[in-house]
Amino acid sequence: MKATYWVLAVSLAACGSDDSITPDAGPQYPTIEEEAQRTGDPAAGRDYLINGGYITCGIPKAVYDRVLGGGAPEITGRTGANANLPYNYSVATSSEGIEVVSANCLSCHAGRLNGQVMIGLGGSDADFTGDQAQLVQAASNLQMTPTERTAMLRFLDRIKAIAPYTRTLTVGVNPADNLTAALMSHRDPVTLAWSNTPAIPLPPPLVVPVDVPPWWRMAKKHSMFYSAAGRGDHARIMMAASLLCTDTVAEAQAIDAKFTDVRAYLETIEPPKWPWAIDMALAAEGKKVFEITCSRCHGTYGDGGSYPNHIVPIAEIGTDPILAQGASQFGPRYVEWFAKSFWGQTSRLEPTEVYVPPPLDGIWATAPFLHNGSVPTIEALLDSTKRPRQWTRTFDSSDYDRAAVGWKFTVAVPHAQEPDEMKRTRIYDTTKFGYGNQGHTFGDALEPEERTAVLEYLKTL
Ligand code: HEC
Ligand code: HEC
Repeated sequence: MKATYWVLAVSLAACGSDDSITPDAGPQYPTIEEEAQRTGDPAAGRDYLINGGYITCGIPKAVYDRVLGGGAPEITGRTGANANLPYNYSVATSSEGIEVVSANCLSCHAGRLNGQVMIGLGGSDADFTGDQAQLVQAASNLQMTPTERTAMLRFLDRIKAIAPYTRTLTVGVNPADNLTAALMSHRDPVTLAWSNTPAIPLPPPLVVPVDVPPWWRMAKKHSMFYSAAGRGDHARIMMAASLLCTDTVAEAQAIDAKFTDVRAYLETIEPPKWPWAIDMALAAEGKKVFEITCSRCHGTYGDGGSYPNHIVPIAEIGTDPILAQGASQFGPRYVEWFAKSFWGQTSRLEPTEVYVPPPLDGIWATAPFLHNGSVPTIEALLDSTKRPRQWTRTFDSSDYDRAAVGWKFTVAVPHAQEPDEMKRTRIYDTTKFGYGNQGHTFGDALEPEERTAVLEYLKTL
């Protein structure tokens, strides 16, 4: 069987006829149907995303300027006070009527490649292993006006409430799903009023890690999130990131109105092109293997390409099941909260035990791989014997592994065996809860030459 794929691919390449390839029929997977989306203006959306004040609590600007100071812009189009802030911070007007600085969507949804900040590439080097409240606590002890103090303490309350639910074991993975669950616990679903005492039980503090997906996939995907749980009005779901600060429905409505533009912008983001040489003949062979082995789930690319929007049950994909089994914001009490809330009016949180085979456009740039970022390179994803059990990676974005396609890594000791905290938090330990690197073994069945060819083909997407 294995050998046949390769021979078939080569012989087809030789006679130049693509038409007669029959993809492996395999089982049929359910399809997520497209749902109508509100339209918007991409240029206005980009501007609002990087300059808009949609996170309306934070550190008072005057205090921020004194303690942390400016930052290099790194992305184009930043205006007003934002022009002198790091790209992942924005200024907003708080309910106290003063300017505050807080983290924007790009804190998680921008990443660096070859030193360049790329909007829409999931950040994979942020450090959520520490106590997020410490810095805010320190800032709140500084000299400030009474109004500034009111704003500062409101922000500190929020950060203190969520900090214990956002600590990851390793640098690079993201706690956003658990963070959202913690915020829902503290808000009334109907009025959105905040209470320091949670109204529904908080999620477990043990964060299920997630690798931030690239935004450019949303041009093809009919659902949001790895487990396809985000359905209905995507713009509405996206603005749930303002849950940290948005205390009234009126405020949420105002932000939501702008997010139709943000969604439209996300759909225009192009995946980056592989910047180095590609062996096109080898890639052409890889394309044939891909279309036989991978396309039934991941779709086809290039002219006439199509993406099937399937979902695959966790029992079949075999990757770490915890997220799809209802961890974090996908647990029943949060799904119920969501349905009753402002978000539930136009969108739905529908978790099921599946993972989405993502569109693989620009996949080369999105290491590490799988929903929890447990596999550092595509080479290791395609050959499970090469997946490291414990590993540390380079955080130098210009040190990308062009041969294995992903982050250069070294094998490490188990988490518990590393006494030095700084070193320990850089170890990705796949034996930890939610951090598993098993499953998705479709590449194992290929011959080594076929794997090499598929890897080359993936660089062209
Ligand atoms: C704290 C980090 C963080 C912040 C801030 C954040 N996100 Fe996300 N976002 C994530 C993670 C992690 C996921 C994947 C969650 C999952 O699939 O379970 C995600 C998923 C998404 C998706 C779905 C992508 C897909 O392929 O399914 C979109 C769209 C999105 N975020 C938009 C936004 C927007 C717009 C903002 C700002 C208003 C934002 N996010 C703020 C971390 C973040
Ligand atoms: C049965 C359906 C199926 C087949 C066949 C399949 N995949 Fe996947 N693939 C998935 C699913 C589902 C995921 C997401 C799993 C997860 O994140 O836990 C995935 C994830 C991936 C990822 C990682 C995406 C990311 O963002 O981290 C890559 C790369 C990939 N597949 C490549 C391939 C290649 C190459 C083949 C063929 C050799 C293949 N897949 C065959 C279903 C499939």
